[in-house]
Amino acid sequence: MALRDLHLLGSPVLRQRGAEVAQVDAAVRRLIDDLFETMDAANGVGLAANQVGVATRVAVVGTEEDRFAMVNPVIVSAEGRDRAEEGCLSIPDAFGEVTRPGRVVLEALDQNGAPFRREAEGLLARAIQHEIDHLDGILFIDHLGALKRQFLVARWKRDHKGEGLIKTVKPERARPE
Ligand code: NI
Repeated sequence: MALRDLHLLGSPVLRQRGAEVAQVDAAVRRLIDDLFETMDAANGVGLAANQVGVATRVAVVGTEEDRFAMVNPVIVSAEGRDRAEEGCLSIPDAFGEVTRPGRVVLEALDQNGAPFRREAEGLLARAIQHEIDHLDGILFIDHLGALKRQFLVARWKRDHKGEGLIKTVKPERARPE
């Protein structure tokens, strides 16, 4: 496993639609392992392949409730409306209230290429939708009103001026045994 660098707002790969995965092979499994490791080191609840510079339909989520990889994920049904604050590892320090369906049913392949179906609500449902958005080149700021988005992006660009479009994630500090 290895930590991968994060692509930040402005990196073109974040706006690309990820390609379908034809086969869950060793390279895809390695990508999944790296996504988990990078997500954990960055204290995220989800991470999509685009965010590490790979435009392919692979993402991971990890909340207190559950933790899994999604390959070629699809939301097959969604209901309700839920509004909550979101952030994104690709837009560090920026947050905004996003309205999304509160409950979703997901279909995807797991890290072994086996299809699975998963119902989710709350934070997990939100994380799943946020990560699938990434695979379509969509960021959470796209769900905000135009004024709010412009304000947030302008402030973010000002605060992160000169930092570049790639961020190196530092390893998690080793925990005592
Ligand atoms: Ni994100």
